This record gives sequence, C-alpha cells and structure tokens, in this order.
Amino acid sequence: MSSTNRGRARHRADNYPTPSWCVRRLLEVVALPREGRWLEPCAGDGAIIRATPPGPTWTAMELRPECEPLLEPMVGAAQTHLGDFLASPPSGKFDVVLTNPPYGSAQAFVEQARRRADHVVMLLRLNFLASATRAPFMRETLPDVYVLPNRPSFTGKGTDSIEYAWFHWHDHGRPAGWVRVLADTSVAERRRG
Ligand SMILES: C[S@@+](CC[C@H](N)C(=O)[O-])C[C@H]1O[C@@H](n2cnc3c(N)ncnc32)[C@H](O)[C@@H]1O
Repeated sequence: MSSTNRGRARHRADNYPTPSWCVRRLLEVVALPREGRWLEPCAGDGAIIRATPPGPTWTAMELRPECEPLLEPMVGAAQTHLGDFLASPPSGKFDVVLTNPPYGSAQAFVEQARRRADHVVMLLRLNFLASATRAPFMRETLPDVYVLPNRPSFTGKGTDSIEYAWFHWHDHGRPAGWVRVLADTSVAERRRG
C-alpha cells in the first residue's frame, strides 16, 4: 500500500514493492509461527518473500502475469497463482498472510485474508486506523499496530508522504490492540532496500 504519487498517475495495479528493511523490522518483534503455510496474496516481484528468512512454505498470488516467472523460482510452480485474490483466492487455510496490499482495495484485502489465515499482517498507512466508514470494523477487530519510525521509499526515489505501520490481526484470543514503535533503520540499511 503506498500513497506515492497521489493525484498523479499511479503505477499499474499499484505496483509498489516493499523495501526489505520494513520486513526485517517487523519480523524482529512480531509473534508469528516461523514455519507453516504463509500466503503473499499480491506478491508483485516477491519482495516480501525474499526478505523473510527460510522456514515458511510460501504460496504466492499476483494479478500481473509478468510476475509469474519471478515468483515461480521462489515458491515453486504449484504454489504460484496468477489471478485476483479478491475474486478467487487460493484454496485452503494458511497460518499467516503477510503483504503490502494495493492502496485502493486494502480493506477488501484485509477482510478476504482474515477468512483464510490465523495471522494477517499488512503494511498500511497509519491512518488506516481512522475512518468513519471503517470504524465499526476496527472496533470489532482491533489489530496490533507496529509503527515504522522511518518512512519507506516505494520507488527508490525518496520517501512517501505519509507514515506507515504493520497491522497484525490474529485470532488467538482477542487481539491486544497495542501500538509499538519499531526500531530505527539506519540510512545505509534503507539505501540497500
Ligand atoms: C503495493 S504492491 C506490493 C507488492 C508486494 N506485496 C510487496 O509488498 O512487495 C501491490 C501488488 O498487488 C497486486 N495486485 C493488485 N490487485 C490485486 C488483486 N486483486 N489480486 C492479486 N494481486 C493484486 C499488484 O499487481 C501489485 O503487485
């Protein structure tokens, strides 16, 4: 999810890969099963999968056909699904859904993912928490929020205009609904991506 270039032409299908340091900061602290079935439902070029240490068995879904040859070597042909996650998600249950969804359909991605996994973790704009239309959903399913203190650059050309956080919904009891601020990331590490 990126608000990059709001008001200007956006990349086709909201193609904004997640910098790997954002994934590293999250995985340092979040309590997720480190093995099991993980789903990247809009995997793009597989940036999040690449940034995750070995352990999970990944399934990758993506709308854009040009991503298929990039994803297949990472997760295997059988686990690579070309298609629309909102219309025809991969079958079965997953332990974890981890992604940065397209900006325009983030809420639909959260809802679809929550039907398919115990843990749903998404990189979203911090103000995803606040919206009159989303308020009933948020009151009902309050996520844990992990704020990134450094703004990601989704284009490699400077940072985005707003703040981001990882939102974690999990079904092992009621989510704590806590807010944590993740560790700082050095400029050098951010430049590496
Ligand atoms: C913000 S990019 C993030 C890519 C990847 N998740 C990452 O974090 O690097 C969003 C991705 O969602 C894909 N996408 C958009 N709508 C989709 C849909 N309905 N089903 C599957 N993928 C979709 C886009 O093609 C794009 O690759």
